[in-house]
Amino acid sequence: MSLKGKKIILGVTGSIAAYKSALLTRILVKAGAEVQIIMSASAFDFITPLTLATLSKRPVLSQFQKDDTGVWNNHVELGLWADLFLVAPISANTLAKFANGLCDNLLTATYLSARCPVMIAPAMDLDMYQHPSVLANIHKLESFGNILLDAESGELASGLSGQGRMMEPENILARIQEFFSGKSDFQGKKVLITMGPTQEALDPVRYISNHSSGKMGLALAHAFKGRGAEVYIVSGPISLTVNRCDFHWQDVKSAKEMYEKSLSIHREMDICVFAAAVADYGPAEVAPEKIKKNETSLVINLVKNVDIAASLGEKKRADQIHVGFALETENEVDNAKKKLAKKNFDIIVLNSMKESGAGFQLDTNKVRVFHASGLMVESKVAPKNQIANLILDQIKNIPVWV
Ligand code: CTP
Repeated sequence: MSLKGKKIILGVTGSIAAYKSALLTRILVKAGAEVQIIMSASAFDFITPLTLATLSKRPVLSQFQKDDTGVWNNHVELGLWADLFLVAPISANTLAKFANGLCDNLLTATYLSARCPVMIAPAMDLDMYQHPSVLANIHKLESFGNILLDAESGELASGLSGQGRMMEPENILARIQEFFSGKSDFQGKKVLITMGPTQEALDPVRYISNHSSGKMGLALAHAFKGRGAEVYIVSGPISLTVNRCDFHWQDVKSAKEMYEKSLSIHREMDICVFAAAVADYGPAEVAPEKIKKNETSLVINLVKNVDIAASLGEKKRADQIHVGFALETENEVDNAKKKLAKKNFDIIVLNSMKESGAGFQLDTNKVRVFHASGLMVESKVAPKNQIANLILDQIKNIPVWV
């Protein structure tokens, strides 16, 4: 989507991720946006204003007063000029200032004057990002209606690995385009999404689970919400930062709990997406006390869990749509098509295990979508939010919808 005519203030603050602001500026300008950069003083340690001024084709602002002229940079006018106020990267320091109404530089003053929507893309080290004060500031900004472009996981500048990398510029562009597209083609629809892993308790301290991060489910939740749907989430334990208030959110642990919560709302739903990686088996009995290591080997008796998608598939009405996922290591297409029929799905999304850039824990994915009608659509390796929108577009091709 073109961003022609859209005026964007891009705030850049002091973080090693400030180097990504150059690419972000370039792709925003290329998409047609007018970009006005405002840098905080510490951003100058990481990137030069000359780079950003050249790419944005406008002088970069950072001071209240224009050099030597006695003329001020009017933050009130700037705040009114913009269609979107984006800060990428936003440091822990600027987050704290925004959350508390501090106003000691042009960027913070413009934030307080902005009437347009605000997006923030944090970037910081792993432990800083998990610190309760940073999380509290993020939640406070979200409660003001600011939109969080959550940090991605991967290698960090410190050498540590985890969540804290600024969202990649291409993904930020996609979120902005989605935001301005104002599509509301799922308005009035109620959507259930099961997501994340399940945990099957062995004893009070141990469980059986899997590597699902919940990222694909969450990307779908945002896409549905962005396109107007009312979204009900039943999620296994995940460690993503998420504003649960955006959704009707139920946290669960076991497959049984996930089934019970899903069953209780299934009748009201128009669309159900089964994105959870449900444990197929759970311990036959949960030991009431911690299992001690007395013997050289331990045999655990596992019993089959309820198949949530299959069971709700039996209850599916003709006006409801069910979407399933499959992750296969062999006979991918055959197995996916068998699941499509067996679980009464309208479409099944086959994740590719063999493709680099696709699968558990990653921020990108590559999928093939099989319709019950025989239609098949394949994606490229793309950010999970783009894949989510592709899946939504495919839902609109299902005969019940059309
Ligand atoms: N699913 C579910 N409940 C289960 C198992 C799976 O709701 N107990 C759903 C998943 O959310 C997914 C689809 O069924 O949408 C396929 O899941 P998958 O694990 O690939 O299939 P299984 O039926 O478990 O088959 P297998 O593990 O043998 O491949």
